[in-house]
Amino acid sequence: MRRPLIVGNWKMNGSRHSSIELADNIARHFSAGDGRVECAVCPPHVFLADVASALGGSSVGLGAQDVSQFEQGAYTGDVSAAMLAEFSCTYVLVGHSERRACFGETSSQVAAKFLAAQGEGLTPILCVGETLAERQADRTLEVIAEQIDAVVEAAGLDALTSAVVAYEPVWAIGTGEVASPAQAQEILAFIRARLGEKANTVRLLYGGSVNAENAAQLFEQHDIDGALVGGAALQAEQFMTICQMAET
Ligand code: 13P
Repeated sequence: MRRPLIVGNWKMNGSRHSSIELADNIARHFSAGDGRVECAVCPPHVFLADVASALGGSSVGLGAQDVSQFEQGAYTGDVSAAMLAEFSCTYVLVGHSERRACFGETSSQVAAKFLAAQGEGLTPILCVGETLAERQADRTLEVIAEQIDAVVEAAGLDALTSAVVAYEPVWAIGTGEVASPAQAQEILAFIRARLGEKANTVRLLYGGSVNAENAAQLFEQHDIDGALVGGAALQAEQFMTICQMAET
C-alpha cells in the first residue's frame, strides 16, 4: 500500500567529481522494478546542480540535506526552499539530529523549516530520534513526541501526513549499532499512531547504520516503509542492494 522509499544522505562527504560519479552510477543501475521502490539522494548543496544533471532522466529523485526557515533576505549562508526547488529537489531533510546537535536547531526552528519546504512544494523528510542518554533514562517516547508535536502544532496534522518521517536514533547514527527491527518498529508504530487517522498512507523511514546486511530484516517490519541511509549510501552498489531489498 505504501511505496517503499530509500533515501541516501551523503552528508558532508565527497568531492564534486565523486558526487557526479556516484549519482551517475546510481542512475545507471537503479532499476525501479515495477516502480515499486522509490529512491532519492541528498548531496551537499553545492553539488545539487551537478548531481541533478548526472541523474538526468532517471527515476532517482533529488533531495537536499537542509533548508532555510526563511523565504529570502539577509540570512548569510542559508539556502531557501525556492532555491532548492529551482535545482529540481523534491525532498529535503529537516531536523536531522546532526543539525539539532551540531548547530543547535530547536524543534520550533525545525517546524519553521518544515513549513518553508512545504510552502515551495518540497516534501520534507522530518527526522526525529533520541540520544543514548535519553533512551537510557526511558525518555524515548517523550522525546519523539515532542519533536513530532512541535511540527504538528506549527503545520497541522494534515501537513504531516503529506510528508515523510524518519526515525533515526542518535545512538545508531554512524556507530554501526543499528536499532533492532523490534526497537525500530516500536517507535515507528508510536509515530504512526501519533499522526492520527490519515497516518496509514504516511511513509515512515528508519535510519541509523542501515546497510546491505541488516536492511532486509528492518523492511520486514510493518511500519518501516524504507530507510534513510548515511554511510552505506556513499557506495552505489551497497545503496542499490538496499533499494532492491525494499522491493520484496
Ligand atoms: P548512517 O547510516 O551512516 O548511520 O547515517 C544515518 C543518517 O544519519 C542518515 O541521515
